[in-house]
Amino acid sequence: MKTILVTGAAGYVGSICVETLLDAGFQVIALDNLQGGKREAILPAARFAEVDLCNEAAVHSVFQAERVEAVMHFAALADVSTSVVYPHLFFKNNVTGTLNLLEAMLAHGVKKLIFSSTAAVYGEPQYVPIDENHPQRPVNSYGESKLAIERMLSWYVSAYQFRCVSMRYFNAAGASARLGEDRFRESHLIPCLLDVAQGKKPEIAIYGSGYATKDGTCLRDYVHVRDIITAHLLCLEHIEELHADVFNVGHGIGYTVQEVLQEARNITGHPIPARMVAPRPGDPAVLLATPEKLRHRLGWRPQRSDLRTIIQDAWKWRLAHPRGYEPVTVPQSQPAATQLQHTEI
Ligand SMILES: NC(=O)c1ccc[n+]([C@@H]2O[C@H](COP(=O)([O-])OP(=O)(O)OC[C@H]3O[C@@H](n4cnc5c(N)ncnc54)[C@H](O)[C@@H]3O)[C@@H](O)[C@H]2O)c1
Repeated sequence: MKTILVTGAAGYVGSICVETLLDAGFQVIALDNLQGGKREAILPAARFAEVDLCNEAAVHSVFQAERVEAVMHFAALADVSTSVVYPHLFFKNNVTGTLNLLEAMLAHGVKKLIFSSTAAVYGEPQYVPIDENHPQRPVNSYGESKLAIERMLSWYVSAYQFRCVSMRYFNAAGASARLGEDRFRESHLIPCLLDVAQGKKPEIAIYGSGYATKDGTCLRDYVHVRDIITAHLLCLEHIEELHADVFNVGHGIGYTVQEVLQEARNITGHPIPARMVAPRPGDPAVLLATPEKLRHRLGWRPQRSDLRTIIQDAWKWRLAHPRGYEPVTVPQSQPAATQLQHTEI
């Protein structure tokens, strides 16, 4: 059975990737330092490595413990507004962390990597929909750190014969039946709307109503997290043919903030009060992908990325987990061997 190392495995997208890989019969080492993710999001069948990618020695020890076939690299600091204020944290965590990971892979002969990049590498769109050849001029250090990693990967491909794929996600959303989006500090639109619907926040702020879109609010491309993971599995299947390839992962259909708000009201049955506030600097009017390359090259067909399904799935998970992930409690009577279902590396 092949073993896949998943970094950022306690986070939103990484945890659902772990779930899908386990369901597909892979063994999974789930690596995370828990600075942003929740331990409870890692399913017990995965082996948990509580490791910080910035700790070079600890990263090497993960590869020493077991033969890893490929790495899916989700771990990152990803909050755009924080990245504007503290760029050094993003370069240190994202770029240095990835360099440590690549060095450990090289030392242990592991050469297949699927990297979670972002639409933030494009910056202000010159045209929409955005294809992979669109100029890459990030407007925040988050996007810049991801672009630096993409470039680093291409050198590992040419010099060390790595197989690397960068997946530029647009807006990940939705949930699986067991796992969903639960961050310590939330800034994404759909979970923020659901926070209001669950009474955790009084209202939602809408940043700007004067954009050149059909209702004046920003338009974004939402893609279901399960469709993102399907794209990752397709990449893994075809990775021998892929060399420093880059793919947009978006639905290719956009929704404005007002449309998302209205759909969330319909699905939750909650009025979700909204307040218009000033636009945020650097927020483009429209961010829309063309996912044609992913469709054409890997046969990707999103199954759940219509807005209704995305919000319904996210809401179902919220209703089942009104307080998000709760700490795992192990009954006193259980034998110690069963308690330690995860191997801490
Ligand atoms: N969610 C989105 O809409 C979206 C959009 C574009 C790109 N992405 C990218 O996809 C990836 C996953 O996003 P997410 O929404 O699941 O993020 P998330 O914040 O939920 O998860 C990131 C995880 O990485 C872990 N992590 C961070 N730095 C680490 C380090 N140095 N060592 C070990 N673990 C570390 C955190 O603890 C967290 O569990 C990220 O790389 C992000 O940049 C996400």
